[in-house]
Amino acid sequence: MNSDLMLFLVGPCSKVRNKLLLVSFDGFRWDYDRDVDTPNLDKMAEDGVKAAYVTPPYLTITSPTHFTLLTGRYIENHGVIHNMWFNTTTQEKKQYYMTQFVDDYWDNGSLPIWITAQRQGLKTGSLHFPGTAATYRNKTIQTRQVEPRFYNHTNETDWRQNVDKVMGDWFKTQDLDFVSLYFGEPDETGHKYGPDSPERRDAVRKVDRTVGYIRETAETHGLTDHLNIIITADHGMTTVFRGDGVNEIILSKIPGPSGMLLPKEGMLEKVFRTLKGAHPNLHVYKKEDMPARLHYSKHPRILPIILYADKGYVINGVIQYNKGEHGFDNNVLDMKPFFRAVGPDFHQNLVVGPFETVNVYPLMCHLLGIKPELNDGSLDNTRHLLLYGGESCDPKGGF
Ligand SMILES: *[C@@H]1O[C@H](CO)[C@@H](O)[C@H](O)[C@H]1NC(C)=O
Ligand SMILES: *[C@@H]1O[C@H](CO)[C@@H](O)[C@H](O)[C@H]1NC(C)=O
Ligand SMILES: *[C@@H]1O[C@H](CO)[C@@H](O)[C@H](O)[C@H]1NC(C)=O
Ligand SMILES: *[C@@H]1O[C@H](CO)[C@@H](O)[C@H](O)[C@H]1NC(C)=O
Ligand SMILES: [Zn+2]
Repeated sequence: MNSDLMLFLVGPCSKVRNKLLLVSFDGFRWDYDRDVDTPNLDKMAEDGVKAAYVTPPYLTITSPTHFTLLTGRYIENHGVIHNMWFNTTTQEKKQYYMTQFVDDYWDNGSLPIWITAQRQGLKTGSLHFPGTAATYRNKTIQTRQVEPRFYNHTNETDWRQNVDKVMGDWFKTQDLDFVSLYFGEPDETGHKYGPDSPERRDAVRKVDRTVGYIRETAETHGLTDHLNIIITADHGMTTVFRGDGVNEIILSKIPGPSGMLLPKEGMLEKVFRTLKGAHPNLHVYKKEDMPARLHYSKHPRILPIILYADKGYVINGVIQYNKGEHGFDNNVLDMKPFFRAVGPDFHQNLVVGPFETVNVYPLMCHLLGIKPELNDGSLDNTRHLLLYGGESCDPKGGF
């Protein structure tokens, strides 16, 4: 064999498809590693890529933002506009958990990466990730574990069993190509005790140990050299303002940092004018006038009037006891999650600037060598994370 050919073979075009694990730690804010020792996250950054932070789509809540990771689409384009399914005619509502099972709520025109990868011949799995339970154009994820009802999100023994299952059974034994894995922490602790609490710092230590466990388990199963791992989150968390001197926002029936209204027939103008200017920290928009940068306007499921509060303010805080909240404007730094990646296709010891989470999808499709669906992201925004600049072997651009 001549030496030119050798060079060609070890260059970017010798690239084989590596496996990919996408992990989400719900509500892990970008700066949660600043006031806690996180040896495993630090080691991962040394061995891989760390982004300063990433910008989730608005509305910064769990199901909508996770579905953006899986589709690369803004929320107004993928249609999972809230954690809660609702019917404005019957007033019926389903909370977060039951909404996971409403197929046509999730299957609204955007295919999640699992299904696209399966259609292109890859094997995929998902454990507890939002969207796992639904059927998309008559297809479900080949290998899945749907989160049980009333699942305890804080049990570290259980976390380790889930990691063992993904690494051992799914990647090693069943030879899956792509798996998404979800943990409900540190979100739960962040809500209950607030993002500045010692309890939240403990939750971050637990996440850090789990990151160590994930990498250690990959190593045990001989996966390290052909497994890329992306670890990120759906949104951040901020402290809720409470107590004396806080000018609380009180409105009937709308809890949380944001809400939507469908006024009765003929009442839109009146309701809008009443709410607009009702409180200095409350933003009120007609759907069509929502700032374009929020990409939260176009979908028919979004109701005619949208309200959102400034960071720290919750609507009707008097009936809610959370010390931490998210759901605010995605410009707010506290709403931004962390992002780390390590593996054979990523640079080592590289810190990159922020990017929007719509760009994670094209990055994942590239890593898996699959053709992406129509999406709102671009590989050009994440290419610099990759060795060889994500250079493709296909002269036409291909993957
Ligand atoms: C809401 O309920 C009405 C009445 O049952 C029904 O006609 C409509 O299709 C439902 N809408 C959704 C989005 O499920
Ligand atoms: C998405 O949902 C909206 C409203 O619920 C519906 O009108 C529309 O037909 C759906 N689109 C697709 C492609 O499923
Ligand atoms: C899904 O399956 C049902 C019943 O088997 C069928 O009527 C429908 O056309 C299928 N839809 C798609 C998008 O394949
Ligand atoms: C934690 O999870 C393990 C494994 O599923 C279980 O055996 C144990 O009882 C759980 N502990 C608590 C406190 O729920
Ligand atoms: Zn939450």
